[in-house]
Amino acid sequence: MSTNNFAPETQMMGYGYKPELSEGAVKCPVFQTSTFVFKTAEEGKAFFEMAHGKPGHEGETMGLIYSRINNPDMEILEERLKLWDGGEAAAAFSSGMSAIATTLVSFLKPGDILLFSNPIYGGTHKFIHYMLNNWGVKAIGFNAGDHKEMIIDMINKNNAADKLKMIYVETPANPTNDLIDIAMCSDLAAAYSNQEKKVLVAVDNTYMGPLWQHPLKHGADIVLYSATKYIGGHSDLIAGAAVGSTEIIKQIKKSRTFFGTIIDPHTSWLLMRSLETLKIRMEAAAANAEKVAAFLLQHKRVEKVYYLGYTALNNPDQEYILKKQYLSFGAMVSFDVVGGEQEAFTFLNNLKHIKLAVSLGGTESLAEHPYSMTHADIDEEEKNRLGLTKKMVRLSVGIENAADIIWDIEQALEKINLKSYIGKPQLAAQV
Ligand SMILES: Cc1ncc(COP(=O)(O)O)c(C=O)c1O
Repeated sequence: MSTNNFAPETQMMGYGYKPELSEGAVKCPVFQTSTFVFKTAEEGKAFFEMAHGKPGHEGETMGLIYSRINNPDMEILEERLKLWDGGEAAAAFSSGMSAIATTLVSFLKPGDILLFSNPIYGGTHKFIHYMLNNWGVKAIGFNAGDHKEMIIDMINKNNAADKLKMIYVETPANPTNDLIDIAMCSDLAAAYSNQEKKVLVAVDNTYMGPLWQHPLKHGADIVLYSATKYIGGHSDLIAGAAVGSTEIIKQIKKSRTFFGTIIDPHTSWLLMRSLETLKIRMEAAAANAEKVAAFLLQHKRVEKVYYLGYTALNNPDQEYILKKQYLSFGAMVSFDVVGGEQEAFTFLNNLKHIKLAVSLGGTESLAEHPYSMTHADIDEEEKNRLGLTKKMVRLSVGIENAADIIWDIEQALEKINLKSYIGKPQLAAQV
């Protein structure tokens, strides 16, 4: 066995870093510089030729040029980011949205059709429907839970077969935790690919990655992250990432250089620190989420719990996907309170420890109201169709003591006035 075969959590401590290039520092320092000195003019010329893909430099390694193109912190971070997903390469970005937007415009051109899964993160939804639409890219949505035949039918009805260029998936769906079969999407992409175009499958893996879902292993071409979430893990930075084959990441990086959506050296350094504890953080959060979900399920002021351990296990189609695609139930739990928006707000306004904030995947637990916050921009009709209710609260369960999280949830639930609601209509376990 060589050190290259070590598990990702071991590799996170030093992979890609050579202490001898940094005065022996055990950790990679922050290379807070905008530009790099060439040894000679000939070297500078060669680096630029390599950056522009000119022939004659096969087998050579391009050196450092300018921090909108490359930087040591970013390069070492990218070496580590690809490991969890088993990708050939990774690209790091200034945010999850810049990773998503840069990737989509790298492969879509006017006239192309993008097939996407519903519901998706509000920012992505807006980008697809406003920006891409303005540039002549048509988006067609399918719902988590739609069978392959239903999606094929929709592609045909929209005359989309010839123009379909990408299938964009977010699974589990935010905030309902509905699952989508990535291998099914990959089969669809293959069926609509031909000699002129390869239909790509891109998966936003923010909710379950990089630990518990590995989309490339199920046939996806690109994995996307808001690294602001679990990868960063401390709610103190904004970043994004794309992982895939060398060829695909090369194309994405070319657009990244044009747009300048690259990550900065200090954030890269923070992410390397975060990656060292990623596994234990995610495992601790998932263990807490299981206890929180169990507590919510039996509470009289809770109508429905959206947690993979319940929703997916009580639906044969979802259970099939869960078992082949996931390594955990995750740490995101949504629930409907008994009542409506007012009762959900009463719960949120009475939390004493859990912070009322959007985002997820941090060490601390967070709670928000998807209907009026993260998903505010999605049409009311569409939200209703997707089961995204006004009574829904989304919890990102952190790594605190589970009993303390549950204490806070219990005392805030007790503040909801049950007077006008009789009985408990439905448990997720019965869905
Ligand atoms: C699933 C998902 N994808 C993408 C994003 C966008 O990431 P960022 O805020 O880092 O730009 C978010 C942010 O909440 C998200 O939840």
